[in-house]
Amino acid sequence: MIKNKNIVLIGFMGSGKTVVAKALAKELKRTVISTDELIEKKEKKIIREIFRESGENYFRRLEREAVKEISQKENVIIDCGGGVVINPDNMADLRHNGIIFYLSTSPEYIYKRVKDHPHRPLLNVDDPLRKIKELLEKRKKFYEKADYTLDTNGKTPEQNCEEVLEIIRHE
Ligand code: S3P
Repeated sequence: MIKNKNIVLIGFMGSGKTVVAKALAKELKRTVISTDELIEKKEKKIIREIFRESGENYFRRLEREAVKEISQKENVIIDCGGGVVINPDNMADLRHNGIIFYLSTSPEYIYKRVKDHPHRPLLNVDDPLRKIKELLEKRKKFYEKADYTLDTNGKTPEQNCEEVLEIIRHE
């Protein structure tokens, strides 16, 4: 078992990180910490407002600070915003005391999951599916730096959770 190590979930928006994180937390009796939630708590604003008022670069700086802080913890589940991976310093910090799992999901499946949820500023565009494909293509190489990749297409969060548990049992 991976004593004290954090379980870090990365993946595109809508890949199910938050639900899987909660399921894992219940099974392992650990706390979930979400980078987005920490940012919202500190700024006292929701992500969409931060993007609208201060722009993406500002958000990425807040995200960097959040990751630095969260990475110091032990024994927690870390639910990362989809763009955390583009900064190599974030990945290095998360890896320091964590095992990183990439929830890999196809653009079509992501689209199905996010289309009725307008709270994601990057996907508030005329053609979200196209945007998902573009971003995913750009980010693939970063996501693939994870220690483990889980194919989540057509699987339930419980199944994904079980896969993570199976891996950490053997770690
Ligand atoms: C983002 C993903 C979002 C949030 C922000 C930017 C991204 O988190 O951090 O809207 O760049 O992929 P989720 O992946 O939890 O939706």
